[in-house]
Amino acid sequence: MTTLAEQLSTLVGAAFIAQDLPAELGQVQISGRPDLAPFQCNGALAAAKLAKRSPREIAQQITDAIKADPLITQISIAGPGFLNIIPADAAYAVQANALLGDVRCGATQTQTPQKIIIDFGGPNVAKPMHVGHLRSSVIGDFLQRVARFVGHEVVSDIHLGDWGLQMGHLITELQDEQPDLPYFDEGFSGPWPAQPPVSLDDLSRLYPQAAANAKADEARMSRSRKATSALQAGRPGYRALLGHFIAVSRAGLETDFNALGVHFDLWKGESDVNDLIPDMIENFKARGVTEISDGALVIHVAREDDKKKQPPLILLSSEGSALYGTTDLATILDRNNKIAPDHTLYVVDQRQGQHFEQVFRAADKAGLMAENALEHIGFGTVNGADGKPFKTRAGGVMRLSDLLAMANTAARARMVEAGIGEGMGEEVLVDIARKIGLAAIKFADLRNQRLTNYVFDMDRFTAFEGKTGPYLLYAAVRIKSILRKAHDQGLQSDTIKPEMTEEKMLVLALDSFDAALHGAWAKRAPHILCEHVYELAQAFSRFYAACPILPEKDEAKRSSRLALAKLTLHQLEIGLDLLGLEAPERM
Ligand code: ARG
Repeated sequence: MTTLAEQLSTLVGAAFIAQDLPAELGQVQISGRPDLAPFQCNGALAAAKLAKRSPREIAQQITDAIKADPLITQISIAGPGFLNIIPADAAYAVQANALLGDVRCGATQTQTPQKIIIDFGGPNVAKPMHVGHLRSSVIGDFLQRVARFVGHEVVSDIHLGDWGLQMGHLITELQDEQPDLPYFDEGFSGPWPAQPPVSLDDLSRLYPQAAANAKADEARMSRSRKATSALQAGRPGYRALLGHFIAVSRAGLETDFNALGVHFDLWKGESDVNDLIPDMIENFKARGVTEISDGALVIHVAREDDKKKQPPLILLSSEGSALYGTTDLATILDRNNKIAPDHTLYVVDQRQGQHFEQVFRAADKAGLMAENALEHIGFGTVNGADGKPFKTRAGGVMRLSDLLAMANTAARARMVEAGIGEGMGEEVLVDIARKIGLAAIKFADLRNQRLTNYVFDMDRFTAFEGKTGPYLLYAAVRIKSILRKAHDQGLQSDTIKPEMTEEKMLVLALDSFDAALHGAWAKRAPHILCEHVYELAQAFSRFYAACPILPEKDEAKRSSRLALAKLTLHQLEIGLDLLGLEAPERM
């Protein structure tokens, strides 16, 4: 279906064509001055320059040409030649009922579906997740939901960090604690014990311990490095340990991501592509794209017109280890073989921007993948009230499970404050608090321009008023309650016939869903959809304040408004789902 703005653009565009002017000038937009008219077109001014004519004269001819069209009730010229357009009441009605009858509430699908890999989440085995991983998870999940809804085929991959120095740290630290385990015996060749030698708690203890020790002692660091190389070279005991570390870590991560409501198609990791690395490097060498620099094997990626100097991508360190960029290149190779994507998105902290620039250039230079098929979706940091990256009170990185627990507690406090929950069972309350807490955190993250930093403020995030996740849930819950009451009273909804200004404005808000959806996807900008859903909730609020629904005596009005409420809820629920939010039945 086409939006009212599009229909008007077609109409005005045709009038421009009739004057031998480009149709694009007839672009009609939602007006910046809704007090004058809901729509405007500024094309006459550009047309005047183009045709060296008076803008008012062009505007007058456009006006004369279309003023009788049934789509509009009034068109007037303001200032030097702006066109203000008021659609006909019937046009609102036709549009509203078309939206009502559309299962997608006006959202169109792409004409050019692609196969898209979204690489996001990216937690590291054994290392606790930090808020950067949370942002990646929330934004990445938004992108996968939107891309699918728009009609793309999406494969999401968590891309675990399970191949770097942290593995060497874990191995050596465990060896110091339990030297008798068979994994450290070079003469032992298996079979390896099926039971993991560590628990999740052990892992979270061992890693920071090892990292601190290695930082203080160069010899200790060197042991971790050597263990990392031995692991990468395939030492069987270490490989067996790695398997345990990944399995134990993954079990914990799955719990966390389930609680967050974020799901991945693939749980691959850096270690999965290790076996591809030797041949890949031979191939790069044969193509002549590698060089030796300070004992390391590198790919130069600097270009003449670079404003900032681009260091080379290191394929093999002087110790012969594969690094972060190496596994990323091998992962591209692996994905080409198994998935053959048209496009890949990497949703990772903006501070890794240079890394991705190196990887994309190297991939292109080495013939793996065209640079423009790879895209880094960066984002800013989450800061504490002190303006520094957000940490726990003890100064450590925040664990996802702790963060969710915090959000839950805050949500529960808000519910008590608002008197929500009287007469509800504990199970229901727990579920409502969970949904409010998640909505608070996710929406607070998505509503900002992706690249800006924001301050973590649980109090503000969980407020029931203002531009927050809980406010949006509340908006949906309120409509559900109206519809429930209508149902109990045996009231029916019927065709929509907008009469009041607030009704028409609500229809226009509903009608702008498609543009917000595609804008958010094209720009990889969650805040555009957040803005739309918030505007919709507000438009409903104004409508509800001005137009009684259940108490309305006129049956045609009442059933029209009921239908409008139904339509709003439907679109709101689609929008919430795309944002990864879930509304409870009551709150
Ligand atoms: N594990 C990495 C980190 O914690 C993020 C991985 C992002 N994805 C990628 N393909 N490099 O920083």
